[in-house]
Amino acid sequence: MTATPETRTVAAESLTDPDWWRQATVYQIYPRSFADANGDGIGDLQGITEKVDYLAELGVDAVWLSPFYPSALADGGYDVDDYRDVDPKIGTLADFDAMSTALHRAGIKLIVDIVPNHSSNRHVWFQEALAAEKGSAARDRYIFRDGEGPDGSEPPSDWQAMFGGSAWERVPDGQWYLHLFAPEQPDWNWDNPEVRADFLKTLKFWADRGVDGFRVDVAHALAKDLTGPLPTHLELSQEFPVDGSHRLFDRDEVHEIYAEWRQLFNSYDPPRIAVAEAWVPAERRGRYASPEGLGQAFNFDLLEAEWDAEQFRDIITKNLEEATTTGGSSTWVFSNHDVVRHPTRYGLPNGTDLQAWLMTDGKDPELDLATGLRRARAATLLALALPGSAYLYQGEELGLYEVADLPAEVLADPTWVRSGHTIKGRDGCRVPLPWTGTGESFGFGSGPAHLPQPADFGAFSVEAQEQDPTSTLAFYRQALAHRRRLETAEKLDWVAGDNPELVQFVRPGGWVSVTNFGTEPVELPAGELILSSSPLVEGKLPGETTAWLRA
Ligand code: NOJ
Ligand code: CA
Repeated sequence: MTATPETRTVAAESLTDPDWWRQATVYQIYPRSFADANGDGIGDLQGITEKVDYLAELGVDAVWLSPFYPSALADGGYDVDDYRDVDPKIGTLADFDAMSTALHRAGIKLIVDIVPNHSSNRHVWFQEALAAEKGSAARDRYIFRDGEGPDGSEPPSDWQAMFGGSAWERVPDGQWYLHLFAPEQPDWNWDNPEVRADFLKTLKFWADRGVDGFRVDVAHALAKDLTGPLPTHLELSQEFPVDGSHRLFDRDEVHEIYAEWRQLFNSYDPPRIAVAEAWVPAERRGRYASPEGLGQAFNFDLLEAEWDAEQFRDIITKNLEEATTTGGSSTWVFSNHDVVRHPTRYGLPNGTDLQAWLMTDGKDPELDLATGLRRARAATLLALALPGSAYLYQGEELGLYEVADLPAEVLADPTWVRSGHTIKGRDGCRVPLPWTGTGESFGFGSGPAHLPQPADFGAFSVEAQEQDPTSTLAFYRQALAHRRRLETAEKLDWVAGDNPELVQFVRPGGWVSVTNFGTEPVELPAGELILSSSPLVEGKLPGETTAWLRA
């Protein structure tokens, strides 16, 4: 089944619904790897515009566009030179407007990525800071400190950046600046009123241009307490206290910033929406998702879970409870531009160290991609039946896998170099999409793509899958069309049974979802079958399969 003109009209009406985001299907586009209209090997905004019909037919409600701003690409565009422009390598503001108009005409909303924790080192204010003196107003927009040791040649603290190496970089006059990520990504000082005002200006710039919302990068890190002596051995991974006492992450003051943003968002009709990327403990997530704050926050719990019925049940229960308490709506994610694609994860033994596996070029342990894809489809269909928003990552509708054997010389993730070539990083999920079965870059563009695609990508292409009713693309199209039609109040009732491998629930209106996490076929619950993630076997629900039914 494909999206009919009728379903598109419904989408167009929803453009004015202030609650459109609560149960939306949002499709993430990593622009440099989506579609290359001018054949220079890099995906561009015109490429997106040319694929709007594809997105409409897929049936998504919104697109989340990863950074498209001018950038030297030290971190895939998350190093922003200018927040209010388009990277000339991928288009112009006029191309942006054309893309936005085309999406809106097709009833698809547009969410842009905003990167407020750090700029790039090429940002005009960072260049000003470098040229200015110690203690100057220009330096105060970032986080500069004197070094330790008699000549200040030691960094101000021993903190390690997320991509490896020290979190401090020295500048020619001897001072150091903080960068939680790459050295090319200096952290902003959010205690500086000019920084706050400039971000409001940026948000207004894009909201006035018609964007419907914002995805907020590293939303939990903006407010920092760097007063007094800096602590040593500060934990920069996810394991930090849940009381807001960490010096860098998840401090209570960060919500003052978002309360101010919310006032701006609410001055638009419909209000602009926002979703926080906040790697915080589950019990703190609701603060970002509150209606007075950003409204929604990513929940990466399922993304981090194993293929396991109990884990899924617990995660779903906990997150739905939390959404009820905070008034936000839940979010469900399996893949994005930062993680190993989910068919690959599910095709590896539980507990596999994914980065170690990538270092073997994906050879050890052996990948069972057929099982991985089967489970991925089942997991996706389960999540699409849940209350809340589903965030999909480009290419998952084609069943794309992680490209584990990219040659070292093409790796662009800063992690690769910063880890001393011990962690490959995230390029394997950023390989350009295959649109056609043949051609130099399988229809991504007319020439070679910026990251090489594997030879079998043609078999995964849109062209190859479009005519095949059993393809993953056909499955996603059907699932999204049914989801839109079946959408109902934001709650579910669990259906308990004797088999612990079954995860079954019913949504208001009688929409049933049942997933068999085991390997043995089971009887289907009573009802009319709507869709299943793998074919039924002799009328039964086979292992590693989800089915939707109407009770
Ligand atoms: C999270 C983004 O998703 C990731 O791609 C980026 O490297 C970091 N934030 C730093 O901006
Ligand atoms: Ca291009």
